[in-house]
Amino acid sequence: MILEVFGLTKHFGGLKAVNNVELQVEKASIHSIIGPNGAGKTTLFNLITGAIAPISGKVFFKGREVTGWSPERLARTGVARTFQRTSIFRALTVLENVALAIRSREGTSASVWQPTEREEAVVADARDILDKVMLRGREEVKAGNLAHGYQRSLDIAIGLALKPDLILMDEPLAGMSRGDRETIAALITMLRDTLGLTIVVVEHDVGMVMRLSDRITVMQHGAVIADATPEEIRGNEVVRKAYLHGSFAQ
Ligand SMILES: Nc1ncnc2c1ncn2[C@@H]1O[C@H](COP(=O)(O)OP(=O)(O)OP(=O)(O)O)[C@@H](O)[C@H]1O
Ligand SMILES: [Mg+2]
Repeated sequence: MILEVFGLTKHFGGLKAVNNVELQVEKASIHSIIGPNGAGKTTLFNLITGAIAPISGKVFFKGREVTGWSPERLARTGVARTFQRTSIFRALTVLENVALAIRSREGTSASVWQPTEREEAVVADARDILDKVMLRGREEVKAGNLAHGYQRSLDIAIGLALKPDLILMDEPLAGMSRGDRETIAALITMLRDTLGLTIVVVEHDVGMVMRLSDRITVMQHGAVIADATPEEIRGNEVVRKAYLHGSFAQ
């Protein structure tokens, strides 16, 4: 297991946004988290990535307790994330966006004092990542002018700039055309199969989740109500009744 979560809990006032959640994520797998709006999926990501602190519970990454670590420290240890809304800099080019992420990983900033060789290495690294996410040829395009699907790919590229072992993606397929969803799904599969990355995905497109995932955790009202393979989830009556309303009938 690369990621293990025990009894993770976060309340907002009286609301149990995340309540005693257990999660086990196997290395080099695609593990999806599904559940209705407000189930606590994004809050769970915020807790795992250190954006907010839990009131109780523990998070282990590669067997080491990382509960309460800052997002920056976790990123340096190999945990990256993409957001429900993209985090790209729209006024910068595609290449600049990735180069910026690489520099932030290295704790350096763009400056006139930066040695040229270092800058060249950053750019080469950025191009290499853009190749992986199929953005080659779009390096000089302003990120804000990219089509929606490519903005998502760029988001993933920015995550990859941290050289993560684990990447958490919050709704990477949201608001995309069918074709773009297929492209991103193929990209996610490639990250697992070619780079050996572990990907935890929050996603509402249940059909895609079924095809993509090695394992699925279902949340409702802040709690885990099921955790199983796609096949088992498909046949799970509790999940069906609580949330899916027959959307597996396809
Ligand atoms: N900072 C906050 N302060 C107060 N309540 C919050 C906060 N963040 C989230 N919540 C509440 O916690 C619950 C879980 O929210 P969360 O965003 O984790 O759900 P979600 O499963 O990601 O939903 P969606 O599918 O709509 O993205 C919701 O009721 C939400 O309104
Ligand atoms: Mg959410």
